[in-house]
Amino acid sequence: MGNKFSKTLKKKSIPLPSINMQEDSDFKYIHGRRYHNVESVKYPLPNDEEELDRLHLQHFLLRYVWQRNFAAPVKHILNRNGTKVLDVGCGAGSWMFEMASDYPNTQITGLDISPIQPSEIKPRNVNFIKANVLNGLPFENNTFDYIFQRFLVSAIPKDSWPDVINELTRVLKPGGYLELVEINPIPFQLGPVSSQLFTAVEKMLQLRDLDTQIPYKLRSYFEQHGNLENITEEKNRLPYGPETGKLGQAAVENARLAVTHAKPFLLEAIKISSEEFDNNLDVLVKELNEFDSYNDTCCVYARKKGNY
Ligand SMILES: C[S@@+](CC[C@H](N)C(=O)[O-])C[C@H]1O[C@@H](n2cnc3c(N)ncnc32)[C@H](O)[C@@H]1O
Repeated sequence: MGNKFSKTLKKKSIPLPSINMQEDSDFKYIHGRRYHNVESVKYPLPNDEEELDRLHLQHFLLRYVWQRNFAAPVKHILNRNGTKVLDVGCGAGSWMFEMASDYPNTQITGLDISPIQPSEIKPRNVNFIKANVLNGLPFENNTFDYIFQRFLVSAIPKDSWPDVINELTRVLKPGGYLELVEINPIPFQLGPVSSQLFTAVEKMLQLRDLDTQIPYKLRSYFEQHGNLENITEEKNRLPYGPETGKLGQAAVENARLAVTHAKPFLLEAIKISSEEFDNNLDVLVKELNEFDSYNDTCCVYARKKGNY
């Protein structure tokens, strides 16, 4: 499957990856919150300390829900010396730090549009690169043994998913594994006020050409690719509410923080006052508990055809 990235990459030599040195021009500030500064990138969440803390919380939630950090049958690969792993849209790097400690023989590269990860105090087998996945990946063909990408639903525009999957597969070694985990950001079983708030989230994502239905489409994108085999899909729920104890409470807190962090863009989408929005957030917390709401999450993994 050819795409615009592979054509560009064929013409030019592959750009050297930029390490994650922070520059002032990497960031912009809106209402006191810090964001990435790439005009063409529609990702609506900030990249400041508060958001990094939320990403760590979300990582622990997901590890608990799935009872693991990965699903692809790669343990033997990860135990080999010199195995190269790529985490695309690595965020705070929580997944990478755990994988680096569990599999010390691997070399794990995290790629993100925002250079927000630690540059000094980090495991020796971890490195970070600042790059935009929508411009193609700055690596040679067949570089990585295992590639992981989680929760880029609010980062990759609807029509770009096949190109991104093509690019991820290009830099994966034959016999290596690709694993994508996604969420439908709109929960099911919502109460009246939370339903209104999440209608705003949906509208905001649609205005940015993002696709809330991506978890249900990943498998078919993998199948259409043609160079991926042993495609496996697993579905799960991220539950809210008292029934699920501490997990439910942490999930409610994560949802409250995510909606709060997207506030400037949500206010644009629904045209309510800031005070009304804050009141609705309090009701959101109550309703997510009362209505036993949940999000769908989905994990799809596959092997790149060819011999390892
Ligand atoms: C919701 S966070 C997920 C972080 C991490 N994968 C995890 O599961 O904890 C999405 C991440 O994608 C990054 N991102 C958004 N657009 C991107 C792009 N075009 N290229 C690379 N990274 C991007 C954001 O900066 C953010 O760190």
